[in-house]
Order: sequence, then C-alpha cells, then structure tokens
Amino acid sequence: MELLKQKILKEGTTVGPEILKVDSFLNHQIDIRLMQEIGKEFHRRFKDHKITKILTIEASGISIASIAAIYFDVPVVFAKKVQSKNLDAETYKSSVYSFTKEAYYDVKVSKRYLSSDDHILILDDFLANGRAALGLIEILDQAGATLEGVGAVIEKGFQEGGQILRDMNIHLESLAIVNRFEDGKITFIEQNQT
Ligand code: G4P
Ligand code: NA
Ligand code: NA
Repeated sequence: MELLKQKILKEGTTVGPEILKVDSFLNHQIDIRLMQEIGKEFHRRFKDHKITKILTIEASGISIASIAAIYFDVPVVFAKKVQSKNLDAETYKSSVYSFTKEAYYDVKVSKRYLSSDDHILILDDFLANGRAALGLIEILDQAGATLEGVGAVIEKGFQEGGQILRDMNIHLESLAIVNRFEDGKITFIEQNQT
C-alpha cells in the first residue's frame, strides 16, 4: 500500500536492525485518515470472504480493527491481555510468547463473543514472529469458528510470522513488508498486488 509505505519512510524510525518505531501514526498517536485508508484496503483485499467478526488483540490492534470493521459492517472483538475482574469467567484462552518481552502472557476472549457460526478476520498492527496471531487462531479454534484470513499493517519480512501463516495456507495480507534495517535504512519487500 503506497500511501502507508510513504508514511513509514517519512515518519518511521528504526531502533537497531529489527525494531520499527511508528509512534507518530500507529502506536501512540493515531493518524485517523490513514487508518481509514488502511481499513478500506483491508476490505478491498478480503471482500470476497464472508466475514462475521474481526478479531484483534489489545491495545494497538483495536483502532485498526475498528476502522476496518466499518467497511465490513461487522463487530470487533479484541482479546484481552490485561487481567480484569470484569472479564467473564467463561473464556477461551491461549498462552502467547512475546519475543520483545521475553515472557509468556495469556490472551482471553469471553465465550459470549465467539461461536462456531463466526467467520473471522484477524487484524493487527505488526506481524513479527506471529505468536500473537497464532494465539488468536488457537482461541478461534477453541470456539469452533472459521478463520477467513489474517491482515497485518506492517509485516517484518525477516521474522518468521509471515512464513508460518503462509505455510498454513492462511490468506495473509500485509499492507507493507519491511526488510531488516541496514544502517537505519527502511526498505520494503515488493509484493504482487492482487
Ligand atoms: P509476535 O506477536 O509477532 O510474535 O511478536 P512479538 O511478541 O515480538 O511482538 C510483541 C509486540 O511488539 C506486539 O505488540 C507487536 O505488535 C509489537 N511489535 C513487534 N515488532 C515491532 C516493531 O518492529 N515495531 C513496533 N512498533 N512494534 C512491534 P504488543 O506488545 O502486543 O503491544 P500493543 O502495542 O499491541 O499493546
Ligand atoms: Na500489536
Ligand atoms: Na504494538
């Protein structure tokens, strides 16, 4: 997605060879017009699927999923990572390993909001090693729901998440795929536009 790539080049900064900071429009401040174009683009790429819900994970996935959901006209469910007394007792749950935090954390979704009738699109900001996406897939498997696809705003092409999901024959759409950063320089892996 050209507009997104231009924004990454203009405002993205790198931290070492593997971390891309996009706090000015995605992870701290949110550029809502860009989000709208991202939402439209996900809809364009997944519109041939029958989707009943968009599933994401708190916190950064929520704004992306919410704006995309307007175009699909479906609800958003976000998996919770933070323990809360308010969460229903009956939950689907998976344990996710975070490479950046070097620790496991639980993600939970109330059984109320996912069922075997659901056709799910998973959306998130980053696809790195894919552990968050795999955790969400485990949750929708527990619910007996159908996975229709996974969308990432930014895929880090040098980490294994993209390969794992493609090897599982999952319809994966990444709006920008970045290479490992050499001397702080951001470059993209070109994709065949469908
Ligand atoms: P994985 O899920 O793909 O295996 O990745 P990992 O555990 O390494 O990622 C943990 C968190 O870091 C996720 O957000 C993910 O979106 C984010 N992340 C991974 N690589 C980058 C990067 O290069 N830049 C930025 N800005 N974020 C990255 P999270 O900790 O769950 O936090 P939240 O922001 O969604 O609350
Ligand atoms: Na995230
Ligand atoms: Na994040």
